[in-house]
Amino acid sequence: MRINNKKIKIICVVGARPNFIKIAPLIKEMRKYPRLIEPVLLHTGQHYDTAMSKEIFQNLGLPKPDIYLYVGSGTQAKQTAETMNRTDDVILREKPDLMLVVGDVNSTLACSLVAAKLHIPVVHVEAGLRSFNFKMPEEMNRILTDRLSDFLFTTEESANKNLLKEGLSKEKIFFVGNVMIDTLKDHLKKSKKSKILQKMKIKKKSYTLLTLHRAEIVDQKENLHLISDLLKIIGQKMPIIFPIHPRTKQKIKEFELEEEFKMPNLIITEALGYLDFLNLESNAKVVITDSGGIQEETTFLKVPCLTLRSETERPVTTKIGTNVITGLDREKVLKEIDLILKNKFKKGSIPPLWDGKAAQRIVRILIEKLSLANYLN
Ligand code: UD1
Repeated sequence: MRINNKKIKIICVVGARPNFIKIAPLIKEMRKYPRLIEPVLLHTGQHYDTAMSKEIFQNLGLPKPDIYLYVGSGTQAKQTAETMNRTDDVILREKPDLMLVVGDVNSTLACSLVAAKLHIPVVHVEAGLRSFNFKMPEEMNRILTDRLSDFLFTTEESANKNLLKEGLSKEKIFFVGNVMIDTLKDHLKKSKKSKILQKMKIKKKSYTLLTLHRAEIVDQKENLHLISDLLKIIGQKMPIIFPIHPRTKQKIKEFELEEEFKMPNLIITEALGYLDFLNLESNAKVVITDSGGIQEETTFLKVPCLTLRSETERPVTTKIGTNVITGLDREKVLKEIDLILKNKFKKGSIPPLWDGKAAQRIVRILIEKLSLANYLN
C-alpha cells in the first residue's frame, strides 16, 4: 500500500456513544495535516437520541458528520445488515484509501466487513481486547473486526498478546495507548465547570454513580431484580446517581419494574452529556458499572470502580487500576463498598501510554506507513 502525492482519504466511522468519544482526538489530530489527510466523518445513526448523540458531539467539539446513514435500532442482524447495506454505497461513491473504525459496536464490524470486501484497508483502534465471553455481541464484533483489519492499534499489553495468540501478524500491531483517555485529559478541566453536582444537590465524594446498559445484564428481568435489591442497601449508605441508558429504561418498563426502581436515595436521570458525566465520574466515591470505557476512565481518574460483569476485556484496569470485577454477587459488592467507605480500597496506578497522546501516535504511524513521512511538517 503506497499513496504518494495525494491526500489519504480516511472514512472515520462512528455509530454509538463511546465511538464519538474515541474518534474526537483522532479527527482533531488528522486535521493538523490538511495537505496529507482528508478525514470523512461517517455517522451510521446507530445512536440517534439527542442525549446519546448530538449533545456528546457538541460537548466534544466534533464537526457535524459528513455522512449520516440513519440506520437506527433493530435486532443485532438487522442493525448490522442495514449498516452494511448503506455503507457499501458510501464506499463505492467516496472511494476512500482507508476505513478507520473504533471500539466494538455493531457499526464497527459492519463497516469493517464492507470495506474489507471492497479491498479498502481497515484500521481498528482499540484492537485486541477480549472478554472470552462469546455471548456478548461486542466480543464477536471485536474478533471479526480484528481479523479483517490491516492496522491494529492497541490500548494495553493483554491486547497485543491476544492478537498474536490468534495468529495475527506482529507487523500489523501497534501499542499506542488509549484514545478515550486522550479525550478525558482534554476535557477534564472543562468538566470541572459543570454545575451538575449543585443541580442534583449532592456533594463531592459522597455518592455512588451507577451506569447499566449491557444486553447480557439488563435484558434479563432476574438481573434487574438483583440490582434493585442491591441498590436498596447501597442507598442506605449514600445517594446513588443513575443516568439511565435508553436500553435499560426500555427494559425496566418492559419487565414492569418501574415501581421497584423507585426508592429513596436513588436519583434516576436521563442519559447525560459528556462534560456533566465526567464531572460526576471524577467526583464519585464509587462508580458501579457494566461499561467497558468507564472501567478505563475510573482507572485513569483513580476512582474506585465495581464492575457488575463476570469478566473484563480490559484486564489492566483490575491488575493495576482501581477496578474490581464483582459480577452480580451482592456480598462481593457490599464488601468492596465497605472497604471504600473505610478508605481501605486498593490504590491504583495509570497504565502505560495512557498519557493523552494515543491519537498523535496513531496518525503518525498511519502517515509513516503510507510512505508520506517526508511530507511531515
Ligand atoms: C451499543 C453497543 C454497546 C455499547 C453501547 C454504548 C452494540 C452491539 N452495542 O449498545 O457495545 O457499549 O452502544 O451505549 O453495538 N436506543 C434509543 N436511542 C438511541 C439508541 C438506542 O432509544 O439513541 C434504544 C433503542 O430502543 C435500541 C436500544 O436502545 O433498541 C439499544 O440500542 P443499540 O444501539 O442496539 O445497543 P446499545 O444497548 O445502545
